[in-house]
Amino acid sequence: MKVIVTKNYEQMSEKAYEVVSDIIKAKPDAVLGLATGSSPIGLYENLVAAYKRGEISFKKIKTVNLDEYVGLDEKSDQSYVYFMRKHLFNGVDIDLNNTNLPNGKAEDAEAECARYTALLETMPQDIQVLGLGSNGHIGFNEPGTAFDSTTHVVKLTESTIRDNSRLFANIDEVPRYALTMGIANIMNAKKIIVVANGTNKADAVYKMVKGEVTEAVPASVLQNHPDVIVVCDELAAAKL
Ligand code: F6R
Repeated sequence: MKVIVTKNYEQMSEKAYEVVSDIIKAKPDAVLGLATGSSPIGLYENLVAAYKRGEISFKKIKTVNLDEYVGLDEKSDQSYVYFMRKHLFNGVDIDLNNTNLPNGKAEDAEAECARYTALLETMPQDIQVLGLGSNGHIGFNEPGTAFDSTTHVVKLTESTIRDNSRLFANIDEVPRYALTMGIANIMNAKKIIVVANGTNKADAVYKMVKGEVTEAVPASVLQNHPDVIVVCDELAAAKL
């Protein structure tokens, strides 16, 4: 695991941008695994700016996102598909048909999970972008999730509902369930980059990088992956 510590969020985002844009330049039809949340927004801003400068193109890029809330779709501004269009897809020349997220509105959630896992097997991520939950979750894989899990339905923990409620009008509006890539699907990526910033991530960063590899800390599984880069700011790196 390679750890890069930056001064602040802006520098973290630029460093992450360098890693992801190198992949896009080397392989214009790469499969990008993407995350939502506040951590990768700066990375996406840098990617959009580079596209606008004519330095990179997403014409042949394909994407697979980690997760989606159950019950939400692109019409809801809290859905992850809405987030991705707003922060990345609408700002670049990507074909929306090449973008994939689990369908939160699927009638049969179990069948949707099986479909998504089968899709991921046909298009392994050249790079997977991850944020990190303050409880060590990756995707919506909460503490205790099996390392061999594939796409599944999760009941969100109180801590994640609380963390995510800042993005909703009130905590009651936060969906209680989500669909998420499993840990095995994430570990199948050829390369993984984790972005983490702020004091509230310091414990999770420490446990991910230096703690015991245990299902109690989902991100600790990344110690078993051969090509992981962690880019974090000084606050998130404080306990390393
Ligand atoms: C988002 C996701 C989550 C977030 C994590 C950190 O698609 O899967 O695991 O990456 O909750 O969220 P932020 O970046 O908002 O702190």
